[in-house]
Amino acid sequence: EIKDLIRLVSDIANKNNIPAYLIGGFVRDLILGVKNFDLDIVVEGDGIKFAEVISGKLNVGLIRHRRFGTATVILKKHLKVDIVTARQEYYPEAAHLPEVTCGVLKDDLLRRDFTINAMAISINRQDFGRFIDCFGGSQDLANKEIRVLHNLSFIDDPTRILRAIRFEQRYNFKIEPKTLKLLREANRLKMLERVSRERLRDELILILKEERPLKPLNRIKELTRFDFINSGLSLSKKTSQFLKSIESQISWFKRKYPKRRQLDTWLTYFIGLIDQLNINNIKLICKKFSFRRGEEKRIAAYKKLNPKFIKELSQDKIKASEVFRFLEPLSYEVIILIKAKFKNSSLQKHIEDFFEIYNGTHLYISGADLHKLGLTPGPYYQKIFHRVLNAKLDGLVKTKKEELELIKKISEDKSYGAK
Ligand code: CTP
Repeated sequence: EIKDLIRLVSDIANKNNIPAYLIGGFVRDLILGVKNFDLDIVVEGDGIKFAEVISGKLNVGLIRHRRFGTATVILKKHLKVDIVTARQEYYPEAAHLPEVTCGVLKDDLLRRDFTINAMAISINRQDFGRFIDCFGGSQDLANKEIRVLHNLSFIDDPTRILRAIRFEQRYNFKIEPKTLKLLREANRLKMLERVSRERLRDELILILKEERPLKPLNRIKELTRFDFINSGLSLSKKTSQFLKSIESQISWFKRKYPKRRQLDTWLTYFIGLIDQLNINNIKLICKKFSFRRGEEKRIAAYKKLNPKFIKELSQDKIKASEVFRFLEPLSYEVIILIKAKFKNSSLQKHIEDFFEIYNGTHLYISGADLHKLGLTPGPYYQKIFHRVLNAKLDGLVKTKKEELELIKKISEDKSYGAK
Protein backbone atom coordinates (compact mmCIF):
# COMPACT_ATOMS: atom_id res chain seq x y z
CA GLU A 1 0.00 0.00 0.00
CA ILE A 2 2.80 2.37 0.87
CA LYS A 3 4.61 1.58 -2.37
CA ASP A 4 1.43 2.24 -4.38
CA LEU A 5 1.01 5.49 -2.59
CA ILE A 6 4.60 6.56 -3.28
CA ARG A 7 4.12 5.68 -6.97
CA LEU A 8 0.96 7.73 -7.12
CA VAL A 9 2.64 10.74 -5.52
CA SER A 10 5.59 10.30 -7.87
CA ASP A 11 3.27 10.29 -10.92
CA ILE A 12 1.56 13.45 -9.78
CA ALA A 13 4.93 15.11 -9.22
CA ASN A 14 6.13 14.13 -12.71
CA LYS A 15 2.95 15.19 -14.49
CA ASN A 16 3.05 18.57 -12.82
CA ASN A 17 6.78 18.97 -13.11
CA ILE A 18 7.23 19.45 -9.39
CA PRO A 19 10.29 17.96 -7.68
CA ALA A 20 9.18 15.77 -4.76
CA TYR A 21 11.09 13.85 -2.08
CA LEU A 22 10.40 11.46 0.76
CA ILE A 23 11.84 12.97 3.86
CA GLY A 24 12.12 13.00 7.65
CA GLY A 25 10.95 10.23 9.95
CA PHE A 26 9.82 7.97 7.11
CA VAL A 27 13.28 7.87 5.55
CA ARG A 28 14.93 7.41 8.96
CA ASP A 29 12.69 4.46 9.80
CA LEU A 30 13.01 2.98 6.33
CA ILE A 31 16.77 2.76 6.85
CA LEU A 32 16.36 1.44 10.38
CA GLY A 33 13.80 -1.12 9.24
CA VAL A 34 11.19 0.24 11.63
CA LYS A 35 7.49 0.35 10.69
CA ASN A 36 6.27 3.82 9.83
CA PHE A 37 2.98 4.64 8.16
CA ASP A 38 3.42 8.41 8.05
CA LEU A 39 4.80 9.47 4.70
CA ASP A 40 6.52 12.84 4.85
CA ILE A 41 6.89 14.37 1.41
CA VAL A 42 8.49 17.65 0.56
CA VAL A 43 7.76 19.33 -2.76
CA GLU A 44 9.53 22.22 -4.40
CA GLY A 45 6.28 23.93 -5.25
CA ASP A 46 2.90 24.59 -3.71
CA GLY A 47 2.52 21.79 -1.14
CA ILE A 48 -1.13 22.49 -0.45
CA LYS A 49 -2.15 22.39 -4.11
CA PHE A 50 -0.12 19.21 -4.49
CA ALA A 51 -1.92 17.61 -1.56
CA GLU A 52 -5.26 18.65 -3.03
CA VAL A 53 -4.45 16.69 -6.20
CA ILE A 54 -3.55 13.59 -4.16
CA SER A 55 -6.66 13.76 -2.00
CA GLY A 56 -8.76 14.32 -5.14
CA LYS A 57 -7.27 11.27 -6.87
CA LEU A 58 -7.75 9.07 -3.85
CA ASN A 59 -11.05 10.61 -2.89
CA VAL A 60 -10.00 11.05 0.73
CA GLY A 61 -9.93 13.90 3.23
CA LEU A 62 -7.36 16.65 3.57
CA ILE A 63 -6.32 18.97 6.35
CA ARG A 64 -4.64 22.20 5.26
CA HIS A 65 -2.24 24.15 7.44
CA ARG A 66 -2.04 27.30 5.33
CA ARG A 67 0.23 29.14 7.71
CA PHE A 68 2.94 26.53 7.24
CA GLY A 69 2.27 25.67 3.59
CA THR A 70 1.64 22.08 4.61
CA ALA A 71 -1.24 19.66 4.31
CA THR A 72 -2.08 16.20 5.58
CA VAL A 73 -3.87 13.64 3.43
CA ILE A 74 -5.60 11.08 5.60
CA LEU A 75 -6.03 7.61 4.22
CA LYS A 76 -7.82 4.67 5.70
CA LYS A 77 -6.29 2.73 8.56
CA HIS A 78 -3.06 4.18 9.86
CA LEU A 79 -1.76 5.62 6.61
CA LYS A 80 -1.16 9.34 6.48
CA VAL A 81 0.74 11.58 4.06
CA ASP A 82 2.16 14.93 5.11
CA ILE A 83 3.01 17.23 2.25
CA VAL A 84 5.39 20.04 2.99
CA THR A 85 6.37 22.94 0.78
CA ALA A 86 10.17 23.04 0.62
CA ARG A 87 11.08 26.07 2.55
CA GLN A 88 13.68 28.24 4.06
CA GLU A 89 12.68 29.81 7.22
CA TYR A 90 13.94 32.18 9.77
CA TYR A 91 12.80 32.34 13.34
CA PRO A 92 11.23 35.74 14.08
CA GLU A 93 12.18 35.36 17.74
CA ALA A 94 13.68 32.45 19.61
CA ALA A 95 11.13 29.73 20.50
CA HIS A 96 8.45 31.16 18.21
CA LEU A 97 7.05 29.46 15.18
CA PRO A 98 9.07 29.96 12.03
CA GLU A 99 8.12 32.32 9.26
CA VAL A 100 7.98 30.52 5.99
CA THR A 101 9.39 31.50 2.63
CA CYS A 102 9.85 29.30 -0.42
CA GLY A 103 13.19 27.65 -0.83
CA VAL A 104 14.77 24.51 -2.12
CA LEU A 105 15.37 21.08 -0.72
CA LYS A 106 18.69 21.73 0.92
CA ASP A 107 17.37 24.69 2.83
CA ASP A 108 14.40 22.64 3.85
CA LEU A 109 16.67 19.94 5.20
CA LEU A 110 18.78 22.45 7.04
CA ARG A 111 15.85 23.71 9.09
CA ARG A 112 15.18 20.25 10.53
CA ASP A 113 15.92 19.02 14.00
CA PHE A 114 18.50 16.23 13.77
CA THR A 115 20.71 14.74 11.09
CA ILE A 116 18.82 11.45 11.30
CA ASN A 117 15.62 13.31 10.38
CA ALA A 118 17.22 15.33 7.60
CA MET A 119 17.68 12.72 4.89
CA ALA A 120 15.62 12.53 1.71
CA ILE A 121 14.88 10.15 -1.14
CA SER A 122 13.93 11.48 -4.55
CA ILE A 123 10.69 10.20 -6.05
CA ASN A 124 11.14 12.08 -9.32
CA ARG A 125 11.14 10.06 -12.52
CA GLN A 126 14.65 11.03 -13.60
CA ASP A 127 16.33 9.97 -10.35
CA PHE A 128 13.75 7.89 -8.48
CA GLY A 129 15.31 6.45 -5.32
CA ARG A 130 18.30 8.80 -5.16
CA PHE A 131 19.32 9.10 -1.53
CA ILE A 132 20.12 12.63 -0.39
CA ASP A 133 22.07 12.95 2.82
CA CYS A 134 23.68 16.37 3.12
CA PHE A 135 24.46 16.25 6.84
CA GLY A 136 25.71 12.76 7.55
CA GLY A 137 22.42 11.37 8.84
CA SER A 138 23.11 7.81 7.69
CA GLN A 139 26.49 7.86 9.45
CA ASP A 140 24.79 9.02 12.63
CA LEU A 141 22.17 6.31 12.25
CA ALA A 142 24.94 3.75 11.97
CA ASN A 143 26.70 5.20 15.02
CA LYS A 144 23.39 5.48 16.89
CA GLU A 145 23.78 9.19 17.53
CA ILE A 146 21.38 12.10 17.80
CA ARG A 147 23.01 15.23 16.42
CA VAL A 148 21.62 18.70 15.72
CA LEU A 149 22.37 20.38 12.41
CA HIS A 150 23.54 23.65 13.89
CA ASN A 151 24.33 25.29 17.23
CA LEU A 152 21.08 27.23 17.52
CA SER A 153 18.77 24.31 16.93
CA PHE A 154 17.49 24.04 20.52
CA ILE A 155 17.19 27.81 20.78
CA ASP A 156 15.18 28.05 17.55
CA ASP A 157 12.87 25.30 18.69
CA PRO A 158 13.20 24.18 22.32
CA THR A 159 10.70 21.34 21.86
CA ARG A 160 13.66 19.64 20.21
CA ILE A 161 15.06 19.14 23.71
CA LEU A 162 12.22 16.74 24.35
CA ARG A 163 12.37 15.29 20.84
CA ALA A 164 16.08 14.52 21.23
CA ILE A 165 15.31 12.61 24.42
CA ARG A 166 12.39 10.81 22.80
CA PHE A 167 14.38 9.61 19.75
CA GLU A 168 17.41 8.74 21.85
CA GLN A 169 15.40 6.52 24.14
CA ARG A 170 13.18 5.05 21.43
CA TYR A 171 16.07 3.77 19.34
CA ASN A 172 18.57 3.24 22.17
CA PHE A 173 20.82 5.93 20.65
CA LYS A 174 22.93 8.52 22.42
CA ILE A 175 22.67 12.28 22.15
CA GLU A 176 26.22 12.96 20.97
CA PRO A 177 28.45 15.09 23.27
CA LYS A 178 28.25 18.42 21.47
CA THR A 179 24.49 18.17 21.02
CA LEU A 180 24.18 17.23 24.68
CA LYS A 181 26.17 20.30 25.62
CA LEU A 182 23.89 22.51 23.50
CA LEU A 183 20.85 20.84 25.04
CA ARG A 184 22.11 21.49 28.56
CA GLU A 185 22.88 25.09 27.60
CA ALA A 186 19.35 25.61 26.23
CA ASN A 187 18.04 24.07 29.39
CA ARG A 188 20.13 26.38 31.54
CA LEU A 189 18.52 29.27 29.65
CA LYS A 190 15.14 27.75 30.58
CA MET A 191 14.17 27.62 26.92
CA LEU A 192 11.32 25.17 27.50
CA GLU A 193 9.54 27.85 29.50
CA ARG A 194 9.28 29.91 26.34
CA VAL A 195 7.40 27.29 24.37
CA SER A 196 3.63 27.56 24.10
CA ARG A 197 1.66 25.32 26.43
CA GLU A 198 -0.02 23.53 23.56
CA ARG A 199 3.27 22.55 21.96
CA LEU A 200 4.63 21.39 25.30
CA ARG A 201 1.50 19.34 25.86
CA ASP A 202 1.75 17.77 22.41
CA GLU A 203 5.39 16.83 22.99
CA LEU A 204 4.58 15.40 26.38
CA ILE A 205 1.80 13.29 24.87
CA LEU A 206 4.20 12.01 22.20
CA ILE A 207 6.64 10.97 24.93
CA LEU A 208 3.91 9.18 26.85
CA LYS A 209 2.77 7.48 23.65
CA GLU A 210 6.16 5.84 23.22
CA GLU A 211 6.19 2.07 23.63
CA ARG A 212 8.07 2.35 26.94
CA PRO A 213 7.62 5.90 28.24
CA LEU A 214 9.47 5.30 31.47
CA LYS A 215 12.74 5.39 29.52
CA PRO A 216 12.37 8.96 28.21
CA LEU A 217 10.85 10.03 31.54
CA ASN A 218 14.00 8.85 33.32
CA ARG A 219 16.12 10.82 30.87
CA ILE A 220 13.93 13.89 31.38
CA LYS A 221 14.52 13.53 35.10
CA GLU A 222 18.25 13.57 34.44
CA LEU A 223 18.40 16.31 31.80
CA THR A 224 15.55 18.80 32.17
CA ARG A 225 13.40 17.73 35.10
CA PHE A 226 9.64 18.16 35.03
CA ASP A 227 9.23 21.88 35.66
CA PHE A 228 7.74 22.26 32.20
CA ILE A 229 4.75 20.32 33.53
CA ASN A 230 4.72 21.42 37.16
CA SER A 231 7.50 22.52 39.49
CA GLY A 232 6.39 20.09 42.19
CA LEU A 233 6.64 17.08 39.90
CA SER A 234 9.46 14.53 40.14
CA LEU A 235 10.14 10.94 39.28
CA SER A 236 10.71 9.30 42.64
CA LYS A 237 11.34 5.61 43.12
CA LYS A 238 7.73 5.21 44.14
CA THR A 239 6.42 6.93 41.01
CA SER A 240 8.78 4.87 38.83
CA GLN A 241 7.49 1.69 40.39
CA PHE A 242 3.91 2.79 39.85
CA LEU A 243 4.67 3.56 36.19
CA LYS A 244 6.30 0.16 35.76
CA SER A 245 3.26 -1.48 37.25
CA ILE A 246 1.05 0.55 34.87
CA GLU A 247 3.22 -0.65 31.98
CA SER A 248 2.70 -4.30 32.89
CA GLN A 249 -1.04 -3.84 33.43
CA ILE A 250 -1.37 -2.14 30.05
CA SER A 251 0.41 -5.00 28.33
CA TRP A 252 -1.76 -7.49 30.24
CA PHE A 253 -4.88 -5.69 28.98
CA LYS A 254 -3.62 -5.41 25.39
CA ARG A 255 -2.64 -9.06 25.30
CA LYS A 256 -5.89 -10.27 26.79
CA TYR A 257 -8.36 -7.95 25.12
CA PRO A 258 -6.97 -6.89 21.75
CA LYS A 259 -10.46 -6.30 20.36
CA ARG A 260 -11.81 -4.09 23.14
CA ARG A 261 -11.75 -0.32 23.09
CA GLN A 262 -8.11 0.73 22.91
CA LEU A 263 -6.72 2.27 26.05
CA ASP A 264 -5.50 5.84 25.96
CA THR A 265 -2.16 4.62 27.23
CA TRP A 266 -0.54 8.06 27.32
CA LEU A 267 -3.30 9.30 29.61
CA THR A 268 -2.97 6.28 31.88
CA TYR A 269 0.77 6.94 32.27
CA PHE A 270 0.16 10.63 32.73
CA ILE A 271 -2.33 10.04 35.55
CA GLY A 272 0.25 7.72 37.12
CA LEU A 273 2.95 10.37 36.83
CA ILE A 274 0.91 13.16 38.43
CA ASP A 275 -0.58 10.93 41.12
CA GLN A 276 2.02 12.39 43.52
CA LEU A 277 0.51 15.88 43.24
CA ASN A 278 -2.42 17.29 45.16
CA ILE A 279 -5.70 18.06 43.47
CA ASN A 280 -4.97 21.80 43.18
CA ASN A 281 -1.75 21.21 41.29
CA ILE A 282 -3.49 18.69 39.08
CA LYS A 283 -6.18 21.22 38.30
CA LEU A 284 -3.48 23.74 37.41
CA ILE A 285 -1.90 21.27 34.99
CA CYS A 286 -5.26 20.50 33.37
CA LYS A 287 -5.89 24.19 32.90
CA LYS A 288 -2.40 24.87 31.59
CA PHE A 289 -2.51 22.08 29.02
CA SER A 290 -6.22 22.44 28.19
CA PHE A 291 -6.85 18.76 27.99
CA ARG A 292 -10.04 17.54 26.38
CA ARG A 293 -13.10 17.17 28.60
CA GLY A 294 -13.00 13.38 28.47
CA GLU A 295 -9.34 13.41 29.47
CA GLU A 296 -9.89 15.78 32.36
CA LYS A 297 -12.80 13.68 33.56
CA ARG A 298 -10.66 10.55 33.74
CA ILE A 299 -7.86 12.43 35.51
CA ALA A 300 -10.36 13.70 38.10
CA ALA A 301 -12.12 10.34 38.45
CA TYR A 302 -8.87 8.68 39.47
CA LYS A 303 -7.82 11.44 41.87
CA LYS A 304 -11.21 11.45 43.54
CA LEU A 305 -11.36 7.70 44.19
CA ASN A 306 -12.71 7.09 47.63
CA PRO A 307 -10.47 4.94 49.88
CA LYS A 308 -13.66 3.28 51.14
CA PHE A 309 -14.31 2.10 47.62
CA ILE A 310 -10.87 0.48 47.39
CA LYS A 311 -11.40 -1.15 50.77
CA GLU A 312 -14.69 -2.66 49.68
CA LEU A 313 -13.25 -3.82 46.39
CA SER A 314 -10.45 -5.53 48.29
CA GLN A 315 -12.84 -7.78 50.15
CA ASP A 316 -13.04 -11.36 49.17
CA LYS A 317 -16.77 -11.86 49.64
CA ILE A 318 -18.38 -9.19 47.59
CA LYS A 319 -21.16 -9.88 45.12
CA ALA A 320 -20.48 -9.71 41.40
CA SER A 321 -23.27 -7.13 41.07
CA GLU A 322 -21.46 -4.96 43.62
CA VAL A 323 -18.17 -5.19 41.73
CA PHE A 324 -20.07 -4.24 38.60
CA ARG A 325 -21.70 -1.30 40.36
CA PHE A 326 -18.28 -0.03 41.48
CA LEU A 327 -16.37 -0.48 38.25
CA GLU A 328 -18.99 0.05 35.54
CA PRO A 329 -19.02 3.87 35.83
CA LEU A 330 -15.22 4.06 35.60
CA SER A 331 -13.19 4.26 32.41
CA TYR A 332 -10.90 1.40 31.42
CA GLU A 333 -7.93 3.70 32.06
CA VAL A 334 -8.97 4.32 35.66
CA ILE A 335 -9.63 0.62 36.26
CA ILE A 336 -6.16 -0.25 34.92
CA LEU A 337 -4.67 2.38 37.22
CA ILE A 338 -6.46 0.86 40.22
CA LYS A 339 -5.20 -2.57 39.23
CA ALA A 340 -1.67 -1.20 38.90
CA LYS A 341 -1.73 0.56 42.25
CA PHE A 342 -3.46 -1.79 44.64
CA LYS A 343 -1.99 -5.25 44.85
CA ASN A 344 -4.63 -6.86 47.06
CA SER A 345 -5.37 -10.26 45.51
CA SER A 346 -9.17 -10.04 45.89
CA LEU A 347 -9.19 -6.64 44.22
CA GLN A 348 -7.08 -8.05 41.38
CA LYS A 349 -9.47 -10.95 40.96
CA HIS A 350 -12.56 -8.69 40.98
CA ILE A 351 -11.09 -6.47 38.30
CA GLU A 352 -10.08 -9.46 36.18
CA ASP A 353 -13.60 -10.88 36.53
CA PHE A 354 -15.03 -7.52 35.62
CA PHE A 355 -13.12 -7.43 32.33
CA GLU A 356 -13.59 -11.12 31.65
CA ILE A 357 -17.23 -11.67 32.59
CA TYR A 358 -19.27 -8.81 33.97
CA ASN A 359 -18.29 -6.14 31.48
CA GLY A 360 -19.62 -8.19 28.59
CA THR A 361 -22.75 -9.52 30.30
CA HIS A 362 -25.90 -8.99 28.27
CA LEU A 363 -29.49 -9.83 28.96
CA TYR A 364 -31.54 -12.02 26.64
CA ILE A 365 -34.61 -9.90 27.21
CA SER A 366 -35.16 -6.58 25.49
CA GLY A 367 -37.63 -3.70 25.63
CA ALA A 368 -39.87 -5.63 23.21
CA ASP A 369 -40.18 -8.45 25.74
CA LEU A 370 -41.26 -6.03 28.45
CA HIS A 371 -43.79 -4.56 26.04
CA LYS A 372 -45.18 -8.01 25.26
CA LEU A 373 -45.70 -8.55 28.96
CA GLY A 374 -48.02 -5.54 28.87
CA LEU A 375 -45.64 -3.09 30.50
CA THR A 376 -45.88 0.41 29.11
CA PRO A 377 -42.49 1.98 28.40
CA GLY A 378 -41.26 4.29 31.13
CA PRO A 379 -38.33 4.96 33.44
CA TYR A 380 -38.92 1.71 35.32
CA TYR A 381 -37.80 -0.23 32.20
CA GLN A 382 -34.25 0.80 33.13
CA LYS A 383 -34.83 -0.20 36.73
CA ILE A 384 -36.09 -3.61 35.67
CA PHE A 385 -33.12 -4.19 33.36
CA HIS A 386 -30.83 -3.13 36.14
CA ARG A 387 -32.32 -5.58 38.61
CA VAL A 388 -32.34 -8.45 36.15
CA LEU A 389 -28.73 -7.70 35.22
CA ASN A 390 -27.70 -7.74 38.86
CA ALA A 391 -29.45 -11.06 39.34
CA LYS A 392 -27.72 -12.39 36.27
CA LEU A 393 -24.28 -11.22 37.43
CA ASP A 394 -24.88 -12.87 40.78
CA GLY A 395 -25.86 -16.11 39.04
CA LEU A 396 -29.50 -16.03 40.20
CA VAL A 397 -30.92 -16.12 36.67
CA LYS A 398 -29.32 -17.75 33.68
CA THR A 399 -31.77 -18.43 30.85
CA LYS A 400 -34.18 -16.16 29.02
CA LYS A 401 -37.07 -17.97 30.73
CA GLU A 402 -35.62 -17.18 34.12
CA GLU A 403 -35.11 -13.55 33.14
CA LEU A 404 -38.77 -13.32 32.08
CA GLU A 405 -39.96 -14.92 35.30
CA LEU A 406 -37.98 -12.42 37.31
CA ILE A 407 -39.48 -9.55 35.32
CA LYS A 408 -42.98 -10.81 36.02
CA LYS A 409 -42.17 -10.96 39.70
CA ILE A 410 -40.73 -7.46 39.66
CA SER A 411 -43.68 -6.03 37.72
CA GLU A 412 -46.13 -7.53 40.20
CA ASP A 413 -44.38 -5.60 42.94
CA LYS A 414 -46.53 -2.45 42.93
CA SER A 415 -43.95 -0.36 44.79
CA TYR A 416 -41.67 -0.73 41.78
CA GLY A 417 -43.69 1.71 39.75
CA ALA A 418 -44.62 -0.60 36.84
CA LYS A 419 -48.08 -0.17 35.35
N1 CTP B 1 10.82 18.37 12.57
C1 CTP B 1 11.76 19.27 13.03
N2 CTP B 1 11.60 19.93 14.23
C2 CTP B 1 10.48 19.69 14.97
C3 CTP B 1 9.50 18.80 14.51
C4 CTP B 1 9.69 18.16 13.32
O1 CTP B 1 12.77 19.45 12.38
N3 CTP B 1 10.30 20.32 16.13
C5 CTP B 1 11.01 17.69 11.27
C6 CTP B 1 11.91 16.46 11.33
O2 CTP B 1 12.63 16.40 10.14
C7 CTP B 1 10.92 15.32 11.39
C8 CTP B 1 9.79 15.83 10.51
O3 CTP B 1 9.77 17.24 10.73
O4 CTP B 1 11.45 14.13 10.90
C9 CTP B 1 8.44 15.23 10.81
O5 CTP B 1 8.08 15.50 12.14
P1 CTP B 1 7.27 14.46 13.02
O6 CTP B 1 6.23 13.82 12.20
O7 CTP B 1 6.91 15.16 14.28
O8 CTP B 1 8.40 13.45 13.45
P2 CTP B 1 8.95 12.10 12.88
O9 CTP B 1 10.41 12.31 12.63
O10 CTP B 1 8.13 11.56 11.77
O11 CTP B 1 8.87 11.21 14.19
P3 CTP B 1 7.82 10.17 14.73
O12 CTP B 1 8.39 8.85 14.33
O13 CTP B 1 7.83 10.39 16.20
O14 CTP B 1 6.50 10.51 14.08
